[in-house]
Amino acid sequence: MIRNNQTVISQFLLLGLPTSPEQQHLFYALFLAMYLTTIMGNFIIIIFILLDSHLHTPMYMFLGNLSFSDLCFSSVTIPMMLQNMKSQDTSISYPGCLTQMYFYMVFANLENFLLMVMAYDRYVAICFPLRYTSIMSPILCVSLVFMSWVICMLSSLLHTLLVVKLSFCEDNIIPHFFCDISALLMLACSDIHINELLIFYLGGTSIVIPFFLIVVSYTQIVWSILSVSSTRAIHKVFSTCGSHLSVVSLFYGTIIGLYLSPSANSSTVKKTAMTMMYTLVTSMLNPFIYSLRNRDMKEALIRILYKKKISL
Ligand SMILES: *[C@@H]1O[C@H](CO)[C@@H](O)[C@H](O)[C@H]1NC(C)=O
Repeated sequence: MIRNNQTVISQFLLLGLPTSPEQQHLFYALFLAMYLTTIMGNFIIIIFILLDSHLHTPMYMFLGNLSFSDLCFSSVTIPMMLQNMKSQDTSISYPGCLTQMYFYMVFANLENFLLMVMAYDRYVAICFPLRYTSIMSPILCVSLVFMSWVICMLSSLLHTLLVVKLSFCEDNIIPHFFCDISALLMLACSDIHINELLIFYLGGTSIVIPFFLIVVSYTQIVWSILSVSSTRAIHKVFSTCGSHLSVVSLFYGTIIGLYLSPSANSSTVKKTAMTMMYTLVTSMLNPFIYSLRNRDMKEALIRILYKKKISL
């Protein structure tokens, strides 16, 4: 290994959100409220799914996992960002920065894979309703969730290990509210060619493949509805898939907005705002989209409250 006379960076400074000091309090209150809503909403969903045996179906197991992933995804960045908004010291240690980067990638990716698994589940439920329980066996469900976790952890580990190999020079200011991999790469003073290639190909495929499979699943679903062509069937399909479809559009809408917006006019401010949207807003809205539009969830609430009453 070549050692040159670079200063070894032991910490980074996070610049945080590009807000003016007067706006700081407003944004602090807004993001705190959004974060607390995210935690509460997703926590309630997980509790419902664990407590109510009627919700022990593959679809709700996957939803529980999505909520768990949402909880973790927002908790990786938002609490630290809120703390940094209040304090003068916004430094983060080198290991802390890499850890945050790793978990951010794990949960961002996991969200992708879980949405794909959920689309497959809906596809089987609608296109093969009679064989649904035999196809979506407990073993298959557990393996799908397990595989998603393993793939996300391994690919994020690979990205992180390649960042560990980089050397950083004088500049340690990250113009972002968390340790984002692309922001870190810009600070590196060694060759980042391999890292960029890996992000492009591995990161690209882990977004494009799930997205593609989701589109395929929904195309199949739409085909099967059109072949039945009874208004009642169509209504039934939209009531089961509508909420899933809204989550998918929200999630990929923000990703596509983030990465496909023309880079010439996408300022740091705009990028940060979009990332914020992607980390906080989607995680916050997921539980509402599922529970407000969903009769099973409302019935579960009634059953849980009713049980409480009886036991009291
Ligand atoms: C996640 O999915 C697995 C496998 O389907 C399931 O056993 C587990 O209960 C789920 N977790 C939550 C929090 O719903």
